[in-house]
Amino acid sequence: MTLQERCEILQFADLGDERGKLVVIEGGQAIPFDIQRVFYIYESDRDVVRGEHANRESEFVLINVAGQSKVRITNGIEEFIVELNKPMMGVYIPKMIWKDMYDFSSDSVLLVLASTHYDGKEYIRDYDEYLKIMGLNCSQK
Ligand code: TYD
Repeated sequence: MTLQERCEILQFADLGDERGKLVVIEGGQAIPFDIQRVFYIYESDRDVVRGEHANRESEFVLINVAGQSKVRITNGIEEFIVELNKPMMGVYIPKMIWKDMYDFSSDSVLLVLASTHYDGKEYIRDYDEYLKIMGLNCSQK
């Protein structure tokens, strides 16, 4: 399976009607894990890069519920970029995948659903260390 196939783009059903849109995300149904944690990122300037880590234990789904941003996703060999620009779409990020979020629009609200409670120790924040753990040689990112 390629990295892009593993990091599925999720399209959520719209339960809206004439009163407006409604998107429901239930853990284990619309997304492939039970949700233990929710956080959101907003008021990040366009030139800011966030993320810059991989997680040993956590899986995530990223959704721009307002505005837009981009996510660069890599396993050290394959890389692709997802533009998040619709509240009805998300991207699934499995364990041990490196991600950077950037190009935030001024109205961007990036919602993140996570499969774990926060534990800073399961974050790998050094890219060379990540490559080493993945069995790859250190190289320029
Ligand atoms: P960080 O992981 O750097 O955010 P991002 O990946 O979006 O750039 O987190 C910023 C700070 O917030 C850091 O001190 C850890 C803390 N934090 C928590 O306490 N709990 C959480 O669930 C998250 C995501 C971060």
